[in-house]
Amino acid sequence: MSVDRPRPLVAGNWKMNGLKASTKVLAEIQADYGPGLWRHVDLVVCPPAPLTAIFALAAVGTRIGIGGQDCHAKESGAYTGNVSAEMLVDAGATHVILGHSERRQYHGEKDADVRAKAEAAHRAGLTAIVCVGETREEREAGKTLSVVRKQLRGSIPEGSTSENLVIAYEPVWAIGTGLTPTAGDVAEVHAAIRDDLKRLVGKAEQNKVRILYGGSVKPSNAGELMAVPNVDGALVGGASLVAVDFLGIARAYSK
Ligand code: PGA
Repeated sequence: MSVDRPRPLVAGNWKMNGLKASTKVLAEIQADYGPGLWRHVDLVVCPPAPLTAIFALAAVGTRIGIGGQDCHAKESGAYTGNVSAEMLVDAGATHVILGHSERRQYHGEKDADVRAKAEAAHRAGLTAIVCVGETREEREAGKTLSVVRKQLRGSIPEGSTSENLVIAYEPVWAIGTGLTPTAGDVAEVHAAIRDDLKRLVGKAEQNKVRILYGGSVKPSNAGELMAVPNVDGALVGGASLVAVDFLGIARAYSK
């Protein structure tokens, strides 16, 4: 299994933070993303939509990928305020976060919506980072695995592969709270996701799909979380806004 371990990915979800001047943070990340790191771990930064093109231009010639935080299922049309997967590609993105709990919570996104968006991402040639995770009430009711498995079943489209799909397990109660599940709890959920991937992407791809953990990842807890079996990287919110913290998390993979 360890022979097959996918190449780790640390992705930064900037959420609704950052202005044009924030390319400075991207430059700081680039400056320290040397061979000692890029040999071991991929980095993707997902700024807010208006910064996609400027970040992608700034990242040309570096090994850092740029991602969106959402996309519409359609290619174009009368959908005021939305951004299509094709537009993200045109702006230079390679990835897109989909089904983040903040989208599910504040925009009413359901699994079927996430699946349609993931299909759009694949149509456009983007890698979809599909988020799943339970609320505190669901965890306390012992429903974590059934909730995550249902979200996976509903959100992952046909034709997904280790090239165009990344899963992010993000317990909703751990996002932005400073709380994290125990290593044992993370291991249990990631093992269940790995198990379900057999049905979702097939046996040949099952062990190659990257499963990220997200929710209050910091340099101080990254080592422990990233060492958990089937944790192939991190989706990082708050700490991704500060270059030294983001790189400090990536360094969990430099040893
Ligand atoms: P956090 O956010 O690292 O600030 O908890 C993670 C996320 O929402 O992706």
